Amino acid sequence: MSAGLVPSAIEEHYGHEPAVVSGHRNDGKTRCLREKLGAHVESDPDFWSFASLRHSRSGNHALFQYPAMMVPELQGALLDDLLAADSGASVVYDPFAGSGTVLLESLYRGLGFLGADINPLAVLLCDVKANPPTEDEADKAVTAIVDYARRGAKMIVPVFPGVDKWFKPEIKQGLGQLKAAIVAQADRRVRRFMWVCLAETIRLISNSRTSTFKLHTYPADVIAKRETDAVASFESVTRRNVNNLTCHWKRMASVRTTPFIEVTRQSILSRHQPQQLADILMTSPPYGDNRTTVPYGQYSYLALSWIDGNDIPGGVDPKLLEFTAAIDSASLGGSSRGADSARGDLANASPALERFIGLINDAPVLRRKVLAFARDYKAALTATARGLKNGAFCFFTLGERRVDKKSFPLVLVTEEFLAEQGHEKVDLIERTLPGSHKRLAPKNSEGATMGREFILVTRLWKESGDDQAER
Ligand SMILES: C[S@@+](CC[C@H](N)C(=O)[O-])C[C@H]1O[C@@H](n2cnc3c(N)ncnc32)[C@H](O)[C@@H]1O
Repeated sequence: MSAGLVPSAIEEHYGHEPAVVSGHRNDGKTRCLREKLGAHVESDPDFWSFASLRHSRSGNHALFQYPAMMVPELQGALLDDLLAADSGASVVYDPFAGSGTVLLESLYRGLGFLGADINPLAVLLCDVKANPPTEDEADKAVTAIVDYARRGAKMIVPVFPGVDKWFKPEIKQGLGQLKAAIVAQADRRVRRFMWVCLAETIRLISNSRTSTFKLHTYPADVIAKRETDAVASFESVTRRNVNNLTCHWKRMASVRTTPFIEVTRQSILSRHQPQQLADILMTSPPYGDNRTTVPYGQYSYLALSWIDGNDIPGGVDPKLLEFTAAIDSASLGGSSRGADSARGDLANASPALERFIGLINDAPVLRRKVLAFARDYKAALTATARGLKNGAFCFFTLGERRVDKKSFPLVLVTEEFLAEQGHEKVDLIERTLPGSHKRLAPKNSEGATMGREFILVTRLWKESGDDQAER
């Protein structure tokens, strides 16, 4: 166990600390980072829970409520510790970029950023967070858009499955007027910002419950009493987001050189090679297949059906919107086909996974889901290494969900997969989730997480000849 840290969950669960690497290098940078991380808990044992920040996202971190967002201050503290240990690190990689939490914290520290996500809404969010309009531009545009929409001269209403199920007629009309008004804006940066505001409006005023990530309608009597004025809701969301821009631009004033930022819409499994290699990996991969844990795609479906795909960086593959779960099916663990035949290889790489599969062996559907996720997850970890320099520091934020009422040991499985790929374990931070309020699929005991989260810190040592650059 590392100095100053709470007892590792691994020890609690399994009674031992697994070996993560063959051949520790443990150089000065690694030692320094370990000390920095440990020092926080020496002065405040609860440091990593960031409990006081539970409801306080601000600036561009607060433009849209994406599921399972990381705590910006926590990732920022990790970056600060890493930079104190390794001042030469300059490029961060997040292959599961989501709403862009790591992107923004990297930007605020002048670090270059490479990111990707399979979800087009996530890529739009990242783009808007990195390249927002000024407050003045956004302020003028919201006035113009609301005026245009109120005049009601033009409407653009998309046709997609379930449009009348998810939107009342008056909401559909208001959104159609807003869409026409946003399309009429000349500046693409402004339009993209407005699409994010429209997405947040849709989240709040569609007929789908805001209390779950899954699409799930309110009862008819509740729908009848809900908001009827889409334009007013959009204006209130957008004015609040203009204030968030003010906070963002204040923070940007201290960033001396604007670093490069590149976020692409792609699956980590697509074998794309990033333009350059990163010094730092900071990411939070999905904890299981999207359908039974967090359905990011389903959550984004309504907004993506309204947003003009031409304004989404990289566009939107129409296949991803063919049905509400299409993005989730294309995500890690989305297809169970052939999963059982991967079991042998996976068992060799991770005895912890094999032990877990033994516990659910008699539940074939669950077994195949877990194996499919593990197969894709292992491939994703291998693909991620291709984007990293030799000696890169890696921070994985991980949680352990329940499958068949048993806790799936994602941390240990990750450690074992990473060990096979040459990672050295630097630390394991355990944090209690304030209020343990991360929401998952409703009425779904398969998805319920434990009330804690882990940050696994490793260092990647590639086999010589694996790639060019060393840190
Ligand atoms: C835990 S979320 C990341 C949240 C992010 N850290 C934040 O603070 O907003 C995981 C992300 O992985 C993405 N994802 C799932 N499967 C993927 C795949 N095969 N390739 C790339 N991204 C994927 C999901 O769309 C989701 O945005």
